[in-house]
Amino acid sequence: MPGMHMLPCPDAYRSPFRHPDGSYDWRAELDYGWSLVDAASCGALCAVILEPILSSGGMITLPAGYMRAMKAHCEQRGMLLVVDEAQTAMGRCGDLFAIEHEGVVPDVLTLSKTLGNGLPLSAVMTSDRIAAVAREKGFMFYTTHANDPLPAAVGLKVLQIVLRDERAVVRRAAAAGKVLHEGLRRLMGRYACIGDVRGRGLMAGVEIVQDRRVSKGPAIELGRRLSAKMMEMGLSATISARSYFSGCLRIAPPLVVTDKQLEEGLAILEEAFRVTEGSLPLY
Ligand SMILES: Cc1ncc(COP(=O)(O)O)c(C=O)c1O
Repeated sequence: MPGMHMLPCPDAYRSPFRHPDGSYDWRAELDYGWSLVDAASCGALCAVILEPILSSGGMITLPAGYMRAMKAHCEQRGMLLVVDEAQTAMGRCGDLFAIEHEGVVPDVLTLSKTLGNGLPLSAVMTSDRIAAVAREKGFMFYTTHANDPLPAAVGLKVLQIVLRDERAVVRRAAAAGKVLHEGLRRLMGRYACIGDVRGRGLMAGVEIVQDRRVSKGPAIELGRRLSAKMMEMGLSATISARSYFSGCLRIAPPLVVTDKQLEEGLAILEEAFRVTEGSLPLY
């Protein structure tokens, strides 16, 4: 859209910004991105919109410290920080809100999918000060479901349950996430077509590539075949099989998933990699 700028995606796997030891230099990339935005804009933009984990964009987790550095960039320019937690909130990433992981308080927080737990519900939260300005300027929040009492009641109940059963839901998501990520990394040790495993809690991405280290080129067709094989074996593993997303399996099981169910899912993943041609087994 005119007037909209984009910062580089903080992709630790693919970014060309590197420290001498090869590790990802996200700070240099972020500062460089801002220098481009500053040069191409009036320098008084309104806000940055950011997800704690770029969910549909390939489950790309923000590096530690990134959100805090982003907030500092915003403050320096008098801009607001809007954090979109449509996919990450309500415990999925091992914290009630994913922003808690970094301890950053955004100016505006948006919630959606996980708040309604299946019903169409979203929420925008902000400080009293910003809300007062929005009201004064006559900003409008308008959708078919505005003021719909049924999804609102469901959202309230979801919040009550997640807060009441924090141990069973939020902390459980963190623990189950460990099982999931360990299993996926084991698989990565075995199949060279897995370029990267990333995410946090019960949100994981498995990137399918042609080769892990040199071209890192997306293996879209292979990803599609793997995903279809998993479905055939009873596991729905969505793949963002578009060239601009690379080929990333996006895994986000229900928060109440048991370790046994996770192991079952991981076994199907493993079997699909074993029987699908082109998965590049290492042993
Ligand atoms: C990160 C993120 N933000 C916003 C949206 C849009 O949410 P809604 O459909 O509730 O407006 C989505 C849905 O796809 C999303 O994944």
